[in-house]
This record gives sequence, structure tokens and C-alpha cells, in this order.
Amino acid sequence: MAVQISPSILSADFARLAEAAAAVPNADWLHVDVMDNHFVPNLTLGLPVVESLLRATSTPLDCHLMIEDPDRWAPAYAEAGAGSVTIHAEASKAPVRTLRQIRAAGARSGFALNPATPVEPYEDLLGEIDMLLLMTVEPGFGGQKFLDVVLPKIRRARALIDKHGGQVWLQVDGGVSDQTIERCAEAGADVFVAGNAVYGAEDPARAVDALRARAEKA
Ligand code: DX5
Ligand code: ZN
Repeated sequence: MAVQISPSILSADFARLAEAAAAVPNADWLHVDVMDNHFVPNLTLGLPVVESLLRATSTPLDCHLMIEDPDRWAPAYAEAGAGSVTIHAEASKAPVRTLRQIRAAGARSGFALNPATPVEPYEDLLGEIDMLLLMTVEPGFGGQKFLDVVLPKIRRARALIDKHGGQVWLQVDGGVSDQTIERCAEAGADVFVAGNAVYGAEDPARAVDALRARAEKA
């Protein structure tokens, strides 16, 4: 399992997103949290900003859609050139169709579960998914405390993924830091989103290296 780090620009200065991207040249992805004030109680950015970011950085974008009706909006992010587009299980009414449309547009398909959403009902969908995202906070805001209650689900998801050939990446998002990343890696996660732990640090690039080192040795 190769460790990948995806810094979340939610914790960066929204007036300086190009600089935020440039600050982490060692990141595998840039995590872009799209929020619509309906699926989650916060409003961030949408397709026009993603299109500008795509022009401003060569780091692939990992777009996490925390929006209602992702079936309507997700394909456009893939068509625009995002490397990965993640939709939420709780919001999608036709996940198979949407995940296939994301792939058909050339992006990796991501499927996200909130802390209280079980993984088992989605076992049959694993063939449609390139990355399973397990939220380790309730979605909506950066800087929240990591929810240990999700750890057993990370282990169960890892077992399901391995049973199906191990191709699906397993991402964790929320409260991932120096203090929590080892627990996530031990449980089986391999892609780590970190907002505050990267952009709250004095040297974001060093924070990425430190997180990667901790996950790799777990
Ligand atoms: C929360 C977002 C996260 C957020 C994580 O709903 O999905 O990506 O930016 O931020 P930290 O790492 O600060 O918890
Ligand atoms: Zn996110």
C-alpha cells in the first residue's frame, strides 16, 4: 500500500489558493472540498474555482463533493479535468450511474461515507469505485476532532477491499494529524486528507513529509 497525502485547501487562504497549491509541491493530490450549504452547513466553492485551480497547479485535484444532487453535478468536475471526484453515499440517488460517468470522463471515481454510514451495504459497488472515502469527522468544517469511533469501520473496509483484489484506495478525511494518522494507517487507510495539520503548520511542505513518514512507518 503506497501512502498518499492530500492536503485540504479548506484550511488555506481562499484568496491565495494558487499559493496554497504551490506550498505543497510534495503532495500527491490537492483535496478540494465543495460544499453547498445544504448537504453540509457550510458553503465553499464550486466548478469555476476548480477550473481556475486546474490552470494554477499541476498537482492533481481530489474533489470531494459535499453537495446535494451529486448525480447532477459530479460529471462536470471530471470533465473539467479533476483527477478524482468523490460523491457521498448519503446524497447520491444513482451512485452506479454517477460513478461510471466520472470514470467515463477520465477521472478516478470516489465514494464517501459519513461516520454513521455503514460500509457493508456498498460491498457490491466496490468494482465501480476507485477510492472509498471514510469521513473521520462529520463533514462541513476543517479543524474538527478526529472520531475514533470510525476506526473499526476503516478495518472492515480494508478487509472488504482486500477481499475484492485490493485495488480500491481507502481515504480518511477529518482530524488527520501527527497524533491520529498512525491509527488510520494501521487500520488500513492509504490516502490521507489533512487540512489543519498541513495549512495550520508553519511549513506546509514539511508537514506533508512528516505525515507521510508517520503513515509509512505505521
Ligand atoms: C471536512 C472536509 C475535510 C477538511 C479536513 O468536511 O471534508 O476535507 O478540510 O480538515 P482537517 O484535516 O482540518 O480536519
Ligand atoms: Zn474533504
